[in-house]
Amino acid sequence: MPDWKRLRNEFPLLDRYIYFNACSLGPLPRRGKAALARYAEDWDSQGTPVWFTTWLPLLERFRGKVGELLGAPPGSTAIAPSVSVALSTLATGLPLPPGRNKVLIGELDFPTIGHQWLSRRGDGGSSPTQKGFEVEFVPSKDGMTIPPEAFAERIDSRTALVATTHLFYTTGYLQDVRAIADAAHAAGALCLIDGYQTCGCVPIDVVAMDCDAFVGGCLKWVSGGPGNAFLYVRPDLIPRVRPQGTGWFATRDPFSFTLQELVWADDARRLETGTWAVGCHYAGLAGLELVLEVGVASIQERLHDLTDRILERCDEAGVKTFTPRERARRCGIVTLECDRPEEVEAKLHAAGVIVDSRPGRVRLSPHWCVTDDELEHGMDLVLGLLRHGLTPPTTSRPTFA
Ligand SMILES: Cc1ncc(COP(=O)(O)O)c(C=O)c1O
Repeated sequence: MPDWKRLRNEFPLLDRYIYFNACSLGPLPRRGKAALARYAEDWDSQGTPVWFTTWLPLLERFRGKVGELLGAPPGSTAIAPSVSVALSTLATGLPLPPGRNKVLIGELDFPTIGHQWLSRRGDGGSSPTQKGFEVEFVPSKDGMTIPPEAFAERIDSRTALVATTHLFYTTGYLQDVRAIADAAHAAGALCLIDGYQTCGCVPIDVVAMDCDAFVGGCLKWVSGGPGNAFLYVRPDLIPRVRPQGTGWFATRDPFSFTLQELVWADDARRLETGTWAVGCHYAGLAGLELVLEVGVASIQERLHDLTDRILERCDEAGVKTFTPRERARRCGIVTLECDRPEEVEAKLHAAGVIVDSRPGRVRLSPHWCVTDDELEHGMDLVLGLLRHGLTPPTTSRPTFA
């Protein structure tokens, strides 16, 4: 069992706010802050040689740690600046089954997934090219979940790809992605999973999941900051991956400076493009190392306890939630019904509680180091605002050592 009290000391921000927004921006750990200072120091002290002494090896360690986080074999993970770019690379590069152009996406998925294939939508005709996709959204009956059967029912002989998220960002529903991958494969389609909302809080094993591609990043539960997205492609597919957006660092030997020929890297580096924003990766690597040391299974356990209690408090207060009750089908997010969520978010911020708002909802995603006392006090304020209008009750915030 991790020493949560000691770990909490890693996150100075948690002394200033009750932090219920870890699924959006994880707080900066002390070691991440130190790593960012080291980035400036390495750059300033070495100049150009820093690429070979420090930066390229650091990027390789980053890819390796991503592999550890995802249970991915060596050479199957690559760096991307954002999940949107990672998805865009896969939208043009995945070797989809020929003669098919339908992409299935969940109705509750994050918008950027839809955008990747909507921007490549054609006339829905029979062209087997990667352009001209027909996009179909799998509906959610209850606005909270989509059972794997709903995907399975819509997968047919025209389906090239099922692309969906591991955990829905507005409801916190954790999908059975293995069942979705099985259904896709049984019909000859591929399956891509966006795990941005599960990286660092739900144990991931892309091999057991049997997805063909996976995207994620360090911004949220990994506390690694922006610019630290990544992707995985199943090793046997990699030789056939040919992204249309590429760059010299996707080639086998970038320093050969070959212009008139494109020889892809043999491993997942062929999914990368140009010079990386290395400063980000100092913080990203620090976050990855921290989360792997703590253990993702322990983080998930703690988040289950915290979200159990949030749901209990909402039930007691008669506040409607949109998050499944079953522990196995959720992790760190609970969303609450609210007609003026942005106003609630602002008032809570003024009272020392950081939450997020989405249309019609307040979203709570407690950091795993939030204490039981903080959770209770934060919920007093959240529920006070939701039940008694927008004047928060006059409870004073306790101090946390
Ligand atoms: C599940 C999911 N996918 C993708 C994104 C967008 O990622 P990016 O801004 O890195 O493109 C988000 C952002 O919160 C998300 O929650």
